[in-house]
Amino acid sequence: MVVLKTGRELKIMQEACAISAGALKLVGSAVEPGVTTAELDRMAEEYIRSKGAVPNFKNYQGYPATACISINNEVIHGIPSKSRKLMPGDIVSVDLGAEYGGYHGDNAATFACGDISDEAKRLMDATRESLYEGISAARSGGRIGDIGHKIQSYIEARGYSVVRQFVGHGIGTKLHEAPEVPNFGIPGRGIRLMPGMTLAIEPMVNVGSEDVKILPDGWTVLTRDGSLSAHFEHTIVITPDGPKILTQV
Ligand code: MF3
Ligand code: CO
Repeated sequence: MVVLKTGRELKIMQEACAISAGALKLVGSAVEPGVTTAELDRMAEEYIRSKGAVPNFKNYQGYPATACISINNEVIHGIPSKSRKLMPGDIVSVDLGAEYGGYHGDNAATFACGDISDEAKRLMDATRESLYEGISAARSGGRIGDIGHKIQSYIEARGYSVVRQFVGHGIGTKLHEAPEVPNFGIPGRGIRLMPGMTLAIEPMVNVGSEDVKILPDGWTVLTRDGSLSAHFEHTIVITPDGPKILTQV
């Protein structure tokens, strides 16, 4: 069931999302060669707790950290580690969220570590832009397939592929709510979009094929062909006047 949020709920959710966005910005600013992914995770957790919020990934289905940090050919759900140091040229996808007052925020971005290749830059730009394309289709009266179609066509026009095995989602009093928000789709298909819907839209884009595999740690998702991958995510609300991004600082 898709839950529409009231104005009162959205006010609290805006707080949760602002904290999520602040944490992501902080971690992004700390991405540099030599930093470990565990250090980045600690910064995120301390920031979120300092705001009176709770890291909402931690213990979610047994996930052991505040952030997912996924490097290069890792797509999503990379587990922070003291032994994983960032290297110059890495692209670093950070996904994290906060729960505040009973509501959730969720956001992600891919950051450059030092100088990165032109190919990596183009991938990151296309993935970020595809997120905004998708958001622009999140309008009352439209359908869920409009969002995925915008993302997919933007990405495929650039020769990249959209991961299909993982999708965006509704979000609110739970981190994951109905509906699923695929990053691919057919315009006019799927459930109807309405004011008060809160969605986490999150394209995951590979330079090579869309196929992924999961490491034996049970979490880390990698591209099957070893190609680079990027990930951007915002939590948004559909208003009568169009989409509004909640995960902004
Ligand atoms: N951020 C992920 C999402 O967007 C959730 C991560 S799963 C977790 O759906 F276990 F790490 F929390
Ligand atoms: Co999400």
